[in-house]
Amino acid sequence: MRRDRSMMAQHKKSASKLHLINDESRAEIDRWIAKYPEDQKQSAVMAALRILQDQNKGYLNNDLIEATAEYLEMPPIAVYEVATFYSMYELEPVGRHKICVCTNISCKLCGSDDVVKHLQERLGIGLGETSDDGRFTLKEVECLGACVDAPMFQLEDNYYGKLTPQRIDEILEGLD
Ligand code: FES
Repeated sequence: MRRDRSMMAQHKKSASKLHLINDESRAEIDRWIAKYPEDQKQSAVMAALRILQDQNKGYLNNDLIEATAEYLEMPPIAVYEVATFYSMYELEPVGRHKICVCTNISCKLCGSDDVVKHLQERLGIGLGETSDDGRFTLKEVECLGACVDAPMFQLEDNYYGKLTPQRIDEILEGLD
């Protein structure tokens, strides 16, 4: 009986995913947790997912989602719901540069079709694809709240607006 308990404890310990969160991410998540009441640490779930996505070269996997749930003491399904609902989370590997093109109404009216066409031709990939050399991922997203600069896209953490083919070329030429 004692041995069974010890085996169960061992299994529980090995099932923990907390070791996947590195010290830097942990400190950053803790800063977000501190913004909320002590019994509301789950309010930091979106920030925690973003932090762990950055830690993991831009995408989340099941283990990291479960580690988030464990760290924030949430049911894993609740964290999966967040990670699969919002377009800023990736569940598969992405290129070194992720371009999120808005094709919602304002951007559409101001020429997002041309933006998408130019990007596809220049990068040689379609929406939702990653280039073979791993440099670029092209993604279609809903309104990013920057309609005043339509048509626009998000590249990494920056927004670029009033896009034209020439402007797009200038932006891409500055990338590694
Ligand atoms: S419609 Fe493109 S940012 Fe709002």
